[in-house]
Amino acid sequence: MTNAVTIARDGEIAIVTIDNPPVNALSFHVREPLFAAFNALQEDSSVAAIVLACAGRTFIAGADITEFGKPMQKPELRDLIANLETIEKPTVAAIHGTALGGGLELALGCHFRVADAGAKLGLPEVKLGIIPGGGGTVRLPRLVGASKALSMIVSGTPIGAKDALASGLIDAVIEGDLVANAVAFARQKVAEGGSLLAVRDRNDKIENVDLAAFDSQAAELAKKARGLEAPIACAQSVRNAVTLPFDEAYAREREFITKLISSDQSRAQRHLFFAEREAAKVPGVGKDVKPRDVKRVGVIGAGTMGGGIAMAFVNGGIPVTLLEMSQEALQRGLGMIDKNYSISVSRGSLTEEAKAKRLAAFSTTTDYADLGDCDLIIEAVFEEMSVKKEVFGKIDAVAKPGAILATNTSYLDVNEIAASTSRPQDFLGLHFFSPANVMKLLEIVRGAKTAPDVLATALAVGRKIAKVPVVVGVCHGFVGNRMLAARGQDMENLLLEGASAEQIDKVFADFGWPMGPFQMWDLAGLDIGWRNRKATGKTAIIADALCEQGRFGQKTGKGVYLYESGSRTPIPDPEVQALIESKARERGIERRTISAEEINERTLYPMINEGAKILEEGIAARASDIDIVWVNGYGFPIGKGGPMFWAGLEGISKIVDRLEYWYARNGDDAFKPSPLLKKAAEIGKFSDDA
Ligand code: COA
Repeated sequence: MTNAVTIARDGEIAIVTIDNPPVNALSFHVREPLFAAFNALQEDSSVAAIVLACAGRTFIAGADITEFGKPMQKPELRDLIANLETIEKPTVAAIHGTALGGGLELALGCHFRVADAGAKLGLPEVKLGIIPGGGGTVRLPRLVGASKALSMIVSGTPIGAKDALASGLIDAVIEGDLVANAVAFARQKVAEGGSLLAVRDRNDKIENVDLAAFDSQAAELAKKARGLEAPIACAQSVRNAVTLPFDEAYAREREFITKLISSDQSRAQRHLFFAEREAAKVPGVGKDVKPRDVKRVGVIGAGTMGGGIAMAFVNGGIPVTLLEMSQEALQRGLGMIDKNYSISVSRGSLTEEAKAKRLAAFSTTTDYADLGDCDLIIEAVFEEMSVKKEVFGKIDAVAKPGAILATNTSYLDVNEIAASTSRPQDFLGLHFFSPANVMKLLEIVRGAKTAPDVLATALAVGRKIAKVPVVVGVCHGFVGNRMLAARGQDMENLLLEGASAEQIDKVFADFGWPMGPFQMWDLAGLDIGWRNRKATGKTAIIADALCEQGRFGQKTGKGVYLYESGSRTPIPDPEVQALIESKARERGIERRTISAEEINERTLYPMINEGAKILEEGIAARASDIDIVWVNGYGFPIGKGGPMFWAGLEGISKIVDRLEYWYARNGDDAFKPSPLLKKAAEIGKFSDDA
């Protein structure tokens, strides 16, 4: 037996301990000795009961994801659970940390489960594009009921120990030593005697289920699935648990997992799981680099962006000093923050008490000197170089030594701003996405002189405030906005040549984007881009014409689309169509039917090409970092794994061919395949892809 599994004894109770760092995943080298241990203990008449526990920071966090998509070595998880379930002595899972996926499924093979108060239990497989395949969909409803199981399995969100106890998932919450108490619990079960009922044989919670209510709950959840297959399969499998005998439902669950595990969607979601963890590993920032302490954050600017950033920190438990030019601006900013928290209270996601506590974590000031005790100071002021430099001049004069200075610029040169301060080594960009208290992505912009421990601090703080941080280099628009510009490069030409805004938006919706580009124009406001174009001497044929007519988007009731008063539903406007047609006529452009395929090629392909250029220039460390940016900041469909992963699915050589075709026609550099893209085409993937 390997030492991934050990057996100890406390009198007549056997304690089986799994020790497979870092998260005790159920790898083959765990399953094999565990299977043998169960056999041995079943046979050993001196053993009255078995406690299953884990060493290290957590109970089993799931099957070993690195084994997915490869032939599964026996014993499989299902064999292991079936073996455990037939043991005719009390079996008790002692849970700490997280019991997730296959880990919870194994615990469901025990007669009893006890957990410490901080434990979390869940079946997050849906987030990997699969369903629980070790009987989780069939056993969990038998403990917590169909409705609760449905919401747990379709959302993939774990529940806490208290909830688990109330819903019947666990039998006790343990105070004090977990394993010792689990042993006492097992001993008590032995003493009580009586027959033992395996979870598979417990039917009381799945009898008399209101199927109509179940189906409407499932339909609600399916709406949120947005083209993902796994949530639908999860719901169907839980339904099977209720309507079919155990063995039949269990067999169907296997059919689902077998199909899903080899699907592109699951490959994409697994890629994202590892990509997110990979993004935390930054070249030049080793594990030995210690982050600086961040106990208080200063935020300059209490507008939508500054207020959102401040909320993100307060929500993550870090108090904020908010600075504005005037008391009125501060009051306006605080008013907006208060309103946002009130919405959370009215939705039930925040208590009045928690709201009051959060509001108390904001200090306000109009005096830069009050930023002297801040460990990190972020500016979120007007996007103009001279304004930013002036603000940093003031910050530089008051910030304590070692404080980190950050700009929330979307486009400006971070190195130039850094150089205007006396401490470029303490300087970096922190690019939040609006609304900053909600959006997950945080682009951390590494300046030429940014010190490694400043980056390490930004990564640590980013995670603390529940963001997904990605380190990027300095260039216009960084990773996200730069690729967004490439995506939109040919958008107006498509309109002029014959596509309609509704058609393009529908192609985007069909692809899985939450919103099409023209709906986005209307939401963000067309006037912003117009102002920028005017400032930089640029023009846009359609967008400028719309702005000249005062069509700024939703805020003026019309933009690319029409909006009925108070509504956000876009209504196609024949006037806009006429405008586009007249602009095409003026330019002698012959309009034609444009296919969905062409729309994708002329929007997504240049965007991927831009991603390749970003890699070439070292702006992103790896292709998977780009995927993380797009999935978390721009709504790229997770089932497609991000643009660079999707490029592999689409065929990189096909993308190169089609870019060359369009480049020959339009001569636009955005379509000229980059050398790195051509190289990737040869091997069919970007080098770091799984
Ligand atoms: N299989 C294989 N590797 C896993 C894993 C799994 N089920 N769960 C985590 N890991 C790896 C991570 O890739 C990471 O590896 P790295 O250090 O080489 O990057 C390491 O374990 C630590 O994980 P991390 O997520 O960074 O730690 P954490 O403490 O922040 O979170 C968990 C721990 C368990 C909550 C989190 O890892 C998680 O949610 N795991 C997936 C659980 C899951 O989906 N299970 C269902 C599979 S059936």
